[in-house]
Amino acid sequence: MSVQEICRVAENTQLGDGLFLMVLHAPKITELAQCGQFVHIACGEGHLLRRPISICAWKAPELRIVFQVKGEGTKWLSERKTGDELDVLGPLGHGFDVGALGSAPVFIGGGIGVPPMLGCVREAVKQGAKPAAILGFRNQGAVILEGDFRDECETFVTTDDGSYARHGFVTDVLKEQITSASGVAACGPKPMLKAIAAIAKQAGVPCQVSMEELMGCGIGACLVCACALKAKDGETRYGHVCKDGPVFNAEEVEW
Ligand code: FES
Repeated sequence: MSVQEICRVAENTQLGDGLFLMVLHAPKITELAQCGQFVHIACGEGHLLRRPISICAWKAPELRIVFQVKGEGTKWLSERKTGDELDVLGPLGHGFDVGALGSAPVFIGGGIGVPPMLGCVREAVKQGAKPAAILGFRNQGAVILEGDFRDECETFVTTDDGSYARHGFVTDVLKEQITSASGVAACGPKPMLKAIAAIAKQAGVPCQVSMEELMGCGIGACLVCACALKAKDGETRYGHVCKDGPVFNAEEVEW
C-alpha cells in the first residue's frame, strides 16, 4: 500500500559531490515503509516530474533519503530548504525480505546503492540477526554513511582507486566473507550485482538484488523500467522494476 503525502523538509544536507541527505516529515509513509522500497517525489516548478528515490532509513515520522543530482528534477530537489513542502508518493515497490536472509546476512551497497542498505541493516538487527555490511565507493570523496553503518554492524569499505580504506571491489570482500554468510542482499550497478549473484550462487546462499533502472511512472503503468526475468519454463519474461521490484531474488534475474 502507498499514499500520497505532503511532506515537510526537516533537513537537506550536502553529503558529498552531488549527493544530498534529506529528512522528510512523513508520518503516513513511515508507517508503511519497508527497506528497499522507494518514494516518488514531484520535482520542479509545476511539479510535473516525479523522481524515484530509494528509502535510506526511517524512524516515524521521519524519512531519510539520499539522492544524487543527475538532472533538472534532482537539482531542484537539492535546492529545497528546511520547511519547504514536497508532494511524495510512497512507499512504492517490492522491498527486501530481510527475514529470508538468515541470522548472518551480508548487505552490500555500491555508490548510490549504499543508502538503502542502511534500512536493511537496521531491520536485520531489529529481527535479531547479526548483519555485516560491505560498502564500495569510487574514491574517498564518494564515501557516505560509513559511521551510520559502523554504529549498527561490522562494516567493510572499499574504494576503486584505493584512496580510502581497502583498495578493490566489494566482491573481493564478499569472497572472503561468504563462508560465514547466511544470505546476501545488494544494491548498486548491474555488473556488480551480477558478480555478487554469482558468488552467492556458488556458495549456495540466498541472494536478493535491487535493480537500478530508469523509471517513468513508478507505478507499473508505462514500460520504461522493464527488466528481463527468467520464467519458470526457462523462457525470458519481462517485469517492471518499479512494481515487481526493485528487489528481486537474484535467481530470477536474466543477467
Ligand atoms: Fe512505469 Fe515502471 S516506471 S512501469
